[in-house]
Amino acid sequence: MKINKTFVTQLIGLSLAMLASIAHSEALTLETLPKIKGVARHVGTSPQLHVATDKGLYVSHDEGRSWSLSFLFRLPATMVSETADGTLYAFVVGKGLLRIRGSEPMWTPVNNTFGAQVLTQLSATEDDPNRLVGLNQFGRIIVSTDEGANWHRNGGGNKPLTQSVQEGEKLYTTHCQSCHGAEGVGETYTMESLTNEKYIMAPSLDDSTHAWHHTDEALVKMILDGSQRTERMLAWKEQGLTEQNARALVAYMKSLWGQRALECQGPKHMQCM
Ligand code: HEC
Repeated sequence: MKINKTFVTQLIGLSLAMLASIAHSEALTLETLPKIKGVARHVGTSPQLHVATDKGLYVSHDEGRSWSLSFLFRLPATMVSETADGTLYAFVVGKGLLRIRGSEPMWTPVNNTFGAQVLTQLSATEDDPNRLVGLNQFGRIIVSTDEGANWHRNGGGNKPLTQSVQEGEKLYTTHCQSCHGAEGVGETYTMESLTNEKYIMAPSLDDSTHAWHHTDEALVKMILDGSQRTERMLAWKEQGLTEQNARALVAYMKSLWGQRALECQGPKHMQCM
């Protein structure tokens, strides 16, 4: 039988789910909980305490004496917090942003297109509950104006758009965004990327990780010639992209970088760390 990857991924998913449901039946004490990353109080049908831990989301209905999993997957949870209108939000790596409104009994997925970013904080006010503001692990503020469905870097989008950047943006949306994420935030964590050590993620191309450690020439070369390490990053010259296209793509990537990355690009980055 030919075993394909999707099948294996589903199997891993299933066994994680089974592990989670076994764990579900045993209540943990505060001392036996995995490392806590965030805590929030929520009043649903009854007062509850929620924690985000290294190994999933837990809830206590007795003010913290006993805890049980509140979300099936024991994946790292990076934050949980309640906004002023009584909505509880949490972020789980591989599952994205989740929400419990009012007395809803369980978590509902909101959005899992954060790329390589995870949320470490989230806040909203009662005057405009649609507007959420979050902090990612790179210390950047990101904003959603539609209750978490779409997120953008705060302060982005006020740079002049040259023709080259516009051309690059179009090419990027068509050919690159499916892996490297909207606005270059990188590939979103999946069960496969979290469980397969050999899986090579498509890195962020904005300035949050290391794209800016490369010179323009190195980036152009990577785009045209592809990666030696994985077939997923194609040699785009074989897909019909020209050197001029690759330069436009690099111009678009650099429109997503801040001043520091632009000034420190390439070999100079060592002095800027
Ligand atoms: C099918 C997924 C996929 C698509 C589509 C894709 N890439 Fe990639 N890309 C990758 C992966 C995976 C890597 C990591 C390669 C490695 O580490 O050797 C990568 C690496 C890169 C790098 C190197 C970044 C660094 O910091 O080292 C650049 C630049 C890049 N891609 C640009 C592009 C551009 C531009 C496009 C569209 C023309 C594109 N990629 C389309 C998966 C993809």
